[in-house]
Order: sequence, then structure tokens, then C-alpha cells
Amino acid sequence: MNQNVPANFPVIAIDGPTASGKGTVASSVAMALGWHFLDSGSIYRLVALQALRSGVGFDDAERLMAIAKALDVSFDGEEVVLDGEDVKDKLRHEEVGNGASRLAALPMVREALLERQKSFRQKPGLVADGRDMGTVVFPDAFLKIFLTASVEARAERRYKQLIGKGLSANLESLVLDLKERDDRDTNRAVAPLKPSSDAVLLDTTTLSAVHAVKFILDLARQRMR
Ligand code: CDP
Repeated sequence: MNQNVPANFPVIAIDGPTASGKGTVASSVAMALGWHFLDSGSIYRLVALQALRSGVGFDDAERLMAIAKALDVSFDGEEVVLDGEDVKDKLRHEEVGNGASRLAALPMVREALLERQKSFRQKPGLVADGRDMGTVVFPDAFLKIFLTASVEARAERRYKQLIGKGLSANLESLVLDLKERDDRDTNRAVAPLKPSSDAVLLDTTTLSAVHAVKFILDLARQRMR
């Protein structure tokens, strides 16, 4: 075998809009298969967090690109260690999420994060969660899922998540916020949120996460036979 050709380990790409339940579903699929898991949104969030800390604006493409390239991060189980500090909880703050959504529209930032995301493709396989996993980062994924749910169902899930964490939340403003993010993700010029032509659409408005995971695992096992 030619040692210069990297082995292409199998990838399942799970894309979809904000709060569609991708994170829960994708990490459960990865765990069931014993595969690696990439939460690509957390990488965009890391850039946003670092930008906030260094006073860099979310539209300053040059400096954001430099941050993206220099990120000193490692993923250790549940922990996300940035410059030696576990920032998992900080990444979930709304201002970090909003910043991530804004800087994710910048082509230079996306380009700078490409190789980092690809490096998660390791033996025995990878489940990757994001917006452009099936279209841009892993176009050769053997299974691509596009997970959707109505805005109302997604807002309700996010609401329960926040309340569950003891944070305050308002359903109406969550609906507006989700619509705004959907709009930004869908209409950006580079890697917009859209199903790959070969993706399987899965609407989870009335489907539980457990059922969504089973659906994806059944499909993956069929295709791996
Ligand atoms: O929790 P939520 O779905 O809002 O966000 P996330 O998946 O953690 O991603 C944070 C932001 O990064 C999103 O608002 C997207 O705009 C962006 N993103 C992206 O552009 N491409 C990806 N592959 C993943 C996230």
C-alpha cells in the first residue's frame, strides 16, 4: 500500500439547522458505533470565544483567520481544553453562539478551519455534526443525514435546555433568534446550510432523539454490509 495515501475511514455526516437536535443525535450515533465525534460548531464557537477574549470584532476576517489557525485546543471526552482551560460551558453562552454564527459567514475563517476538521477522520470512523459536513468538509461521507424540525419545535427544545440549566429563557425571543440564525446560515455565500443532493432528510418535529438515532444506525449498518 502507498504510505502517502491516507486511509479514508468511513464518515457519517449529520447536518441541519440550529437546535435541530443534531448534537444529541450525532454523539449518540458515534457512541453506539464506537466512532470518533466531531462537533464542528464547537470549533466555530472556539474562534468566537477567543475573539471575545482578545477584543477582535466578529467581522475582522484577517484577525479571525489568525485566531482560527492558531487555536490551541484539544478535545478530551466531554472536555474542550483551550490554552489549558476547560471552556466547555463557556462555549454554550449565547454571545459566543451568536459570534460563531457571524464569523462562520467569512470564507477566510471557514478555509482556515477546514484541515482541522478533516483531521478528526480517524480509525475506525467518524460521525461529524454541522452545517456543511456532507457538502464541503466530507463530501465522500458514505451516509449523509439532513436533520430538520419546525422552528417552533426547535425553539421549544432550546427553551427546555436553557431552563434545565437554571437559565432564564423566553420562547418568543428564541423563535426570533432561531429564524435569524437560520437566515444567516442559509443565505451566506460560502458553504450555506443546505442538504447535499445525496442526503437523507430526517424531520424530527415529532420524532424523539432515540428514534432518530435508531433510524440513522439502521441505515448506516445497511450501507456498511
Ligand atoms: O447550537 P447551534 O446549532 O446554534 O450552533 P453550533 O452547531 O454550535 O454552531 C455555531 C455556529 O457555527 C452556527 O450558528 C453556524 O453558523 C456555525 N457553523 C457553521 O457555519 N458550520 C458548521 N459546520 C458548524 C457550525
